[in-house]
Amino acid sequence: MAYNLLKGKKGIIFGALNDQSIAWKVAEKANEEGAEFILSNAPAALRMGEIQTLADKCNSIVVPADATNLDDLQAVFETAMERFGGKIDFILHSIGMSPNVRKGIPYDQLNYANFLKTLDISALSLHKMLQVARNLDALNTWGSVVSLTYVASQRTLVGYGDMADAKALLESVTRSFGYIYGRDKKVRINTVSQSPTMTTAGSGIKGMGSLLDFSERMSPLGNATAEECANFCITLFSDLTRKITMQNIFHDGGFSSMGMSARAMDRYEQGAVFED
Ligand SMILES: NC(=O)c1ccc[n+]([C@@H]2O[C@H](COP(=O)([O-])OP(=O)(O)OC[C@H]3O[C@@H](n4cnc5c(N)ncnc54)[C@H](O)[C@@H]3O)[C@@H](O)[C@H]2O)c1
Repeated sequence: MAYNLLKGKKGIIFGALNDQSIAWKVAEKANEEGAEFILSNAPAALRMGEIQTLADKCNSIVVPADATNLDDLQAVFETAMERFGGKIDFILHSIGMSPNVRKGIPYDQLNYANFLKTLDISALSLHKMLQVARNLDALNTWGSVVSLTYVASQRTLVGYGDMADAKALLESVTRSFGYIYGRDKKVRINTVSQSPTMTTAGSGIKGMGSLLDFSERMSPLGNATAEECANFCITLFSDLTRKITMQNIFHDGGFSSMGMSARAMDRYEQGAVFED
């Protein structure tokens, strides 16, 4: 059911790769809720071809950009402002990648060139987006910026590697820039800390199946799906959440407040063996 929550709003959605992507679901929901937006992803992701299907469905266009490249980002914002004839109202940053995690390199054997890439793609890219937007004065007053994070930024979860550090940095940039952009332009910036979700990025984490099972058992409401995450992002883009900023908001079925649950305990009592 749609509520027209984003009627008249314009935005940029970064990170829709395929129909599993959280950003893909956000784009579908934003379209249903009356928003207009442009889509952006890395040139390599565009070559995989699926994002144009989403653009056609949402009456949108796709602008390629490596989110670590300031010129690319500037071109995305300029294209959006030109297309919409003025400033925009929302940005979704749904971008993450660790070459170390992807190659199965353990946290105590990190390749540092890879580590820098992880940080640049997954965290500095948010700062770069915000700085470009700020310099172009691209966001309307009460605009909203949301990026996706994971609880491993605050609590250690095996297998998440250097992405945990990237997410900690992403959440910190959210607070630091949130102060400046809020103070000067009333723009709000938040992170949504989502349950593990079976997407292309998610499936790159070693033991993802076990993590999904553990997290499902620990969460009183169960894991949040990508679609549920999209619904929540829409509320953060809407005018109903204007005074929420600089927050990391858990959208995880209650996982982050749990220590042990009956359903997780059952697993041990059945004699299940876990990897360390
Ligand atoms: N899937 C999960 O379990 C989960 C849980 C919590 C948070 N998140 C976060 O959600 C966000 C979206 O991930 P997803 O799960 O939808 O997976 P996804 O693989 O569909 O999306 C990741 C996106 O990042 C893009 N990307 C990678 N490098 C880029 C670059 N240099 N420039 C521009 N884009 C680039 C990819 O092309 C892809 O579209 C990520 O920040 C991820 O860390 C995912």
